[in-house]
Amino acid sequence: MLNGNTVPYNKRCRWRHYFLGVLLTAALFFICNASMKTMMLDLTSKLWVTNLSKKLITSTGKLDLVSDGTGRSPAERTAVSFPQFNGLMSLMPSAPPTTGRTQEPQTKVHAQPHGLTHVPYKSPGPYLVEYPSEYHFVINEPQKCEKEEPFVVLVVPVAPHNRAHRDVIRSTWGSQSQVLGRKVLLFFLVGLKDGEAAPQLQQQLQRESRRPRDLIQSDFVDCYKNLTIKTMVMLEWLDSYCSSASYAMKIDSDMFLNVGNLIIMLLKAPKSNYMTGLVAYGGSVLRNPSSKWYLPEKLYPRQQYPPYALGLGYILSLDLPKKLIMASRHVKAIYIEDAYLGLCMEHLHLHPTPPPNSYQFHVSPLTYSRCAYSQIIATTTAPETDRLKLWRDFIAPGPDC
Ligand SMILES: *[C@@H]1O[C@H](CO)[C@@H](O)[C@H](O)[C@H]1NC(C)=O
Repeated sequence: MLNGNTVPYNKRCRWRHYFLGVLLTAALFFICNASMKTMMLDLTSKLWVTNLSKKLITSTGKLDLVSDGTGRSPAERTAVSFPQFNGLMSLMPSAPPTTGRTQEPQTKVHAQPHGLTHVPYKSPGPYLVEYPSEYHFVINEPQKCEKEEPFVVLVVPVAPHNRAHRDVIRSTWGSQSQVLGRKVLLFFLVGLKDGEAAPQLQQQLQRESRRPRDLIQSDFVDCYKNLTIKTMVMLEWLDSYCSSASYAMKIDSDMFLNVGNLIIMLLKAPKSNYMTGLVAYGGSVLRNPSSKWYLPEKLYPRQQYPPYALGLGYILSLDLPKKLIMASRHVKAIYIEDAYLGLCMEHLHLHPTPPPNSYQFHVSPLTYSRCAYSQIIATTTAPETDRLKLWRDFIAPGPDC
């Protein structure tokens, strides 16, 4: 009969339930614990996101980012504090040169509210940059754009010590403030120089900033690895001080720019969500640790970058800086600046537009001829080029071709 078996069955069942309950509690406890840990580790790998994550980590006291005083390199220390990065760290050749900063600890002290202890902040590693972060302008031209209402703003990121390049640009294509009836403004963007020569160079920069009034300096450490910071700071500057202009062009200091042709192109260009330049499609992510643009799979698992405009010279409509800055809050700041903007564009469901005539942009130096240069917009120039002489020939009267 069914009933005959009911009681003993129920008894066994109850015991089973107890046992299962205990097991479940144990399992739950274990899982919670583990996921808390993963969460913490996850947070540490997202140091780039916000100060909030920093505060979370430190306020729980789970991860102590204080320098361990063993004199180990930051990479080694990272490998110790963040076990999930061990594989990654062993792939790395060696930390890229930090331009004479080897003696300095890579930690920075952030003041904490509510009397909490000071929390040294660790560098995000070699493939991410410290962004978002609060950078300030040490040298600025806050009113110039507002007053002059340019059609297009040219921004040239350049190394602080590279006065020679700035002067060449000032006396060549950067000397034109009015082209085809449109106002053009030029700015140079530099960061902070570190090392012994820094104070002297800073004085020179202050002096240089007084006369042409075209220098912007922000307080991040200016080095090759930090180009993404430079680009984002440029966008912040454009958003804060130049958003009434129609377009901005970021252009490298070794480029030749035909401002007239740039303006002709922009007069017919879309007015918003517009980014153009030499657009790279299906750019491969480089996985060889010794390659210049190496990016570990851990940080970016996809095999290709979304379309992005090559960093040597790209143009954007001035509604974009704000949007790209907002997007940057959600996209890990990889050190490859142009690919990074591509990722931010993708986050906004936007993509760069190829220029109407792609032959107008040259990534490898186009040999000078008056005829050729009169038809392009931008080209890199070979280092040995006498750009002053080239310019004199370019602007001399007479037919172009
Ligand atoms: C990049 O800039 C940040 C902010 O100034 C700085 O902490 C970091 O050390 C710089 N990176 C390198 C490789 O110098």
